[in-house]
Amino acid sequence: MAFIIDGKRIAAETRAEIAAEVAEQKAKGVTPGLAVIIVGENPASQVYVRNKHRACGEVGMYSEVIEMPADTAEDALLARISELNADGRIDGILVQLPLPAHINEERVINAIAPDKDVDAFHPVNTGKIMIGNPDFLPCTPAGVMVMLEKSGIEISGKKCVVVGRSNIVGKPMAMLLLGANGTVTVCHSRTKDLAAHTREADILVVAIGRADFITGDMVKEGAVVIDVGMNRREDGKLTGDVDFASTSERAGAITPVPGGVGPMTITMLLRNTLTASKLHHGLS
Ligand code: GUN
Repeated sequence: MAFIIDGKRIAAETRAEIAAEVAEQKAKGVTPGLAVIIVGENPASQVYVRNKHRACGEVGMYSEVIEMPADTAEDALLARISELNADGRIDGILVQLPLPAHINEERVINAIAPDKDVDAFHPVNTGKIMIGNPDFLPCTPAGVMVMLEKSGIEISGKKCVVVGRSNIVGKPMAMLLLGANGTVTVCHSRTKDLAAHTREADILVVAIGRADFITGDMVKEGAVVIDVGMNRREDGKLTGDVDFASTSERAGAITPVPGGVGPMTITMLLRNTLTASKLHHGLS
């Protein structure tokens, strides 16, 4: 039976470290601030945004949630972002995705000042990640890196396989593993004989968005398996992209869903907001 990497515990530890740093900042008269914009009423997005707002409060940060109706014109959203770019109380700006279909996501991401882009989605920040000189790390891949580090898992020289190539998870995940000297393969929906690749992995990160897609027979004995998936089964239960029952029989270590990567994502958003505040105020 695999060692269970407890994301909830690691997230709580990391948030306590962040809260202590926020307290130090506040003692210097600086309160890190995050603005989260939500357009429309997507129920899952509403839950995520509420959780982000609550998490800010718990570590002592300022945060505001800006709710805009689903029929908001793109120009009105861009104008609101422009105001936040100039707002001294706000260190980080996050526009919750997905956006309504009439709004161009790329234009919106590009409108956020790169030094307030706590999602690290702006091309300036994705470019900095690519060259290994980032200000902010994208929250989910950064959370995975912290989990590996805090679990004492060495990356250097290891064969790392990432399943999924999204801009939010798969691609930046591959870059961070490469930056930590892993030997990285990225697999995706067109990969031929996926299992031949996944069976080679010392560290397997799965972010493909298909419930229980990776099964135990696709994993090397003793591998580290990180499940980024978050899928709702027909019976209403949350499940990852990895079939936990069969995979945990073979893996050396595995993240559960829920309680694995999920709690780390918001934690890294807090970390990025703190980093942005330090950048803005010349503090370290
Ligand atoms: N929607 C789902 N995940 C994310 C995320 O990490 N950032 C933003 N802005 N929207 C999301």
